[in-house]
Amino acid sequence: MDQPAVAQNAPYPIEVEAGKSYFWCACGKSSQQPFCDGSHQGTSILPEKFTATDSKKVYFCGCKKTANSPLCDGSHNA
Ligand code: FES
Ligand code: FES
Repeated sequence: MDQPAVAQNAPYPIEVEAGKSYFWCACGKSSQQPFCDGSHQGTSILPEKFTATDSKKVYFCGCKKTANSPLCDGSHNA
């Protein structure tokens, strides 16, 4: 199992749109953080789909260590 890279040690605040889907980068290698750009190819890590239920600001995990993916759960502070 490949370990994800830390993209940044803080969440990414993103205004999401109700009904829209987003693909969160779980591997940490994307240059389009916090979203997947295909750079996970060659690893065993896949992006995670997030479908917004409301239009609001959410905090996508940047450290890739959250237990509540794809959202930040505060694990970057540990
Ligand atoms: Fe990281 Fe796709 S680039 S999951
Ligand atoms: Fe990963 Fe907060 S940025 S848990």
